[in-house]
Amino acid sequence: MRYNASTMSPIISINQISKTYHQKRSPEVTALKDVSLSIPEGAFFGLIGPNGAGKSTLIKVLTGLCIPDTGSVSVGGNDVIKDYQAARQMIGVSLQEHAFDPYLLVEEELYITGGYYGKSKEYLKMKVPDLLEQFNLSDKKRTFTDKLSGGMKRRLAITKALIHDPKIIILDEPTAGLDVALRHELWEILESLNKTGITILLTTHYLEEVEHLCDEIAIINKGSIIYQGKNKKKGLTENSELEQLFMEMVDQHESDTI
Ligand SMILES: Nc1ncnc2c1ncn2[C@@H]1O[C@H](COP(=O)(O)OP(=O)(O)O)[C@@H](O)[C@H]1O
Ligand SMILES: [Mg+2]
Repeated sequence: MRYNASTMSPIISINQISKTYHQKRSPEVTALKDVSLSIPEGAFFGLIGPNGAGKSTLIKVLTGLCIPDTGSVSVGGNDVIKDYQAARQMIGVSLQEHAFDPYLLVEEELYITGGYYGKSKEYLKMKVPDLLEQFNLSDKKRTFTDKLSGGMKRRLAITKALIHDPKIIILDEPTAGLDVALRHELWEILESLNKTGITILLTTHYLEEVEHLCDEIAIINKGSIIYQGKNKKKGLTENSELEQLFMEMVDQHESDTI
């Protein structure tokens, strides 16, 4: 389904999530403070914030990998803790610290990931070559994952996220460290996936990235959402309004809390 903010109901609802990490030998860290967000079906949603803002923690919470202290998350109406299996089937995720098994070939990595999602051999025999073709990795299928270039690893990470035909893909800083050409290649891949109706949530600290790609944007700083709104400038990368807004909001928030 294509994104249309006025008619779409949320496919992800994040309700008042808080999370504090308690550690034995260092002070506790509150990574998320009362975070609520609503992500419409079909949206291309950007979560932007500086390092340490809480982006990865939020992604782990909404993929069921981290249990929040308070609050709830539902994905397609399924609670990510109580209805973990159903919620998980709807989401394909690529974490920031994505790692592949260096002893696996590219195609084995995909077969094994598909197996985690309970996909049959018959399904995977169709799906794996299709995805490898789509992401220009067919000639690497018998290559060990640690022999791929950086750009190929990013493409493989997205391929893995799509193996079980999820309705939502969540990507934690997918373009961090990529050069401009690879970043643009990835942008095109993500835009074409979004056009097929897949809801995309990505985190980044590149402002021009959300300005170019996203329908809706939220800014997170020190564990709190400090802005959420539509991106009227989608596709107009020259504009730096968002950059100004970001700096203003982050400064204002800091002076609030000091
Ligand atoms: N497993 C963890 N244990 C303790 N502190 C953590 C852990 N993961 C993240 N943090 C802390 O929580 C805060 C938010 O981190 P994170 O969610 O990774 O932010 P971001 O992805 O925006 O950089 C940071 O202060 C970070 O150091
Ligand atoms: Mg992170």
